[in-house]
Amino acid sequence: MFRVGLALLATAFAASLASGAQPSGSPADPPWVDPNLSPEVRAQAALGAMTLDEKLRLIFGYSDQAYTDLVKVPDDIVSPDLKAYVVSHQVKGSAGFVPGVPRLGIPDQTQTDASIGVRNSFIPSTALPSSLATAASFDPEVPRAGGTMIGGEARATGHNTMLSGGVNLAREPRNGRNFEYTGEDPLLAGTMAGALIDGIQSNHIISTVKHYAVNDQETLRTSLDVTISAEAMRQSDLLAFELAIEKGKPGSVMCSYNLINGRWGCENDYLLNKVLKHDWGYKGFVMSDWGAVHSTADAANDGLDQFTGFCCITDKAWFGPPAMKAALQSGAIPAKRLDDMVERILWAMFAKGPVDFPVKVAPIDYAANAAVSQKAAEESLVLLKNDGDLLPLRGVKSIAVIGGHADKGVLAGAGSSDVTPVGGAVMIDNHTYLPSPPLDALKRELPKARIVFDPGSNLTSAAALAAKSDVAIVFLNQHLSEGSDHALELTGDQDALVAAVAKANPKAVIVAETGGAIYMPWINQVPAILEAFYPGIRGGSAIARILTGKVNPSGHLPISFPASATQLARPDIAGLGEPDGTPAQVTYDEGAAIGYKWYDVKGYKPLFAFGHGLSYTNFAFSSLNAKPDGRSIQVSFAIRNVGKRQGKGVAQLYISPTDWKKAGWESPKRLCAFAKADLKPNRSKAIEVTVDPRLLATYEAAGNNWHIRAGEYRVMLGDASDELPQSVSVTLPESIWSAAHGGMGP
Ligand code: BGC
Repeated sequence: MFRVGLALLATAFAASLASGAQPSGSPADPPWVDPNLSPEVRAQAALGAMTLDEKLRLIFGYSDQAYTDLVKVPDDIVSPDLKAYVVSHQVKGSAGFVPGVPRLGIPDQTQTDASIGVRNSFIPSTALPSSLATAASFDPEVPRAGGTMIGGEARATGHNTMLSGGVNLAREPRNGRNFEYTGEDPLLAGTMAGALIDGIQSNHIISTVKHYAVNDQETLRTSLDVTISAEAMRQSDLLAFELAIEKGKPGSVMCSYNLINGRWGCENDYLLNKVLKHDWGYKGFVMSDWGAVHSTADAANDGLDQFTGFCCITDKAWFGPPAMKAALQSGAIPAKRLDDMVERILWAMFAKGPVDFPVKVAPIDYAANAAVSQKAAEESLVLLKNDGDLLPLRGVKSIAVIGGHADKGVLAGAGSSDVTPVGGAVMIDNHTYLPSPPLDALKRELPKARIVFDPGSNLTSAAALAAKSDVAIVFLNQHLSEGSDHALELTGDQDALVAAVAKANPKAVIVAETGGAIYMPWINQVPAILEAFYPGIRGGSAIARILTGKVNPSGHLPISFPASATQLARPDIAGLGEPDGTPAQVTYDEGAAIGYKWYDVKGYKPLFAFGHGLSYTNFAFSSLNAKPDGRSIQVSFAIRNVGKRQGKGVAQLYISPTDWKKAGWESPKRLCAFAKADLKPNRSKAIEVTVDPRLLATYEAAGNNWHIRAGEYRVMLGDASDELPQSVSVTLPESIWSAAHGGMGP
């Protein structure tokens, strides 16, 4: 069914690649063959051997629709030979394809979405929990293991590039793609997305951090112009990218659809040339989001390296050979800029593995991979409320399971991250459910209990079942999708269902399968709530094992849950209801004060605070100590399990200047470190962390500096942003340093 794009290799070097062996290099081989040389040297050497037409192949990639529609593209844009090559080498059903240069042993780029798993309707894959869910683990080893697993599936299905690593901050709680991202805090989001990318790339393939940048709503995503100051960006959205790039070292960055301060994301000199390539010293390449290119010379000169996802009927071939040749000839694009574009792409291909470790279709151990996904869910689901220790369920003889299609599966988000799951998707109302019904899993975990399902469509019958059961578990669904934003109110009668069931049986447990935050008008009527996010291909098992106590929950919220619409930074989503493509504008007046920072500035009490999450045991913190260390702070403390059963505690450190306004901060406190510890009862663990100086500083655009103001800062420790029982003061000296640390490179 698939073809791996290495079949046309012509040289001896090429033959060694086709065998799958890592090339050894010999004096007769061209220099880029030698794996002992640096990727920089190899990229330059390969570039030097390329013709103009070969260079142009690497900067122009085709979308999945090209598979069928390429025939309609004029031959002077894509030659008949190249059309045939694309169609015969593309992995059928994958997101994109960039032809390589077989003569030189440069493989094709076979690209697949996304952060939750391989998305290809022809290939069943293992779906991780949503990225927002795995961010809730507060343990980078969870997304790293997930990335290693999905990257392995990408490799084994012939893909050498994953379009994975979504790190846009949850600035807008109604953003339809929040489930693909890693929350509202730059440190948490950057750390978790970076770990996912690192795991993916451990398979010798490229991963892509996306969508760069400030692409924080889906409404009018291709025509929205975001106004935001450089200071706010560098301290929030861009800091998340900066950290994800440092930690994950992705081979590529995907620029976004929207405009930022009047310039398209994919032709944005400030974001691409100044910040990414100059200040951060990024050595990989910038690929466009699919259809996000608007020009030839401007895009190339303003930092776009590869027009990816070209397709064929509506797109203009901005980076197609005729347009590029004309721009090169007229001098609108300098020849050395084209070389830089190609060199960056080659660098990623050499540095990340696709050249030396060609992908090969291979068998996949789906059972082992499902276990990775289940463990990720078990580390990530968040117990929001547990009055009277109703959970875990003990000695329960009868259970009503109500609503949410819990008899069929668990919900998944939609769009380009929509994995075709192993075992087949269950499609209900056009929404994808992964085949892991919580109902079956509960029956497995509690074989002696009488467990009866009610779909929840009739409130009277649901309430009647709840009334005659020991416990009623109500499953709620919030469907999110790329391409549109979503209300935080639940759809249909779901709120009324909870109220009716809670009235019939006070032992009501809510399991919320949501892409992000929701309102809970019934919050005071129910004793227990489990936030299950989109829990992945074994989500039902993970939910059942947490409800029954086989697993002690340890997830903490990576986002705040607003109590009501009055707490949102913007009452309305800009451009909501306007037809796609309508020019629209939004100003992010809240700047870097996103999520809990916004709530702190305003003095709002959210429904559930960032970092909140309960366990079936309790943790206590002690011995908090903080001392300045250069620009940074070294913090040590101990965490102890003071409850009766083993569990994982999440320590969160926040920092606050005595006078946050005087210090120029966007808000009173910032998350500055976190750690997770697995502890038996009465056991404790000593933890030491170093605070990244950027989390103590403000960004100053005038000098392109980070600046820590001299003064006293409080370091606060606890297990939620609103539960910080320990604190200690530290005095920091003034420090100013350049935000340009070029040369870091991935
Ligand atoms: C999405 C990207 C995705 C690409 C390819 C775009 O519409 O925004 O996240 O990688 O499609 O499928």
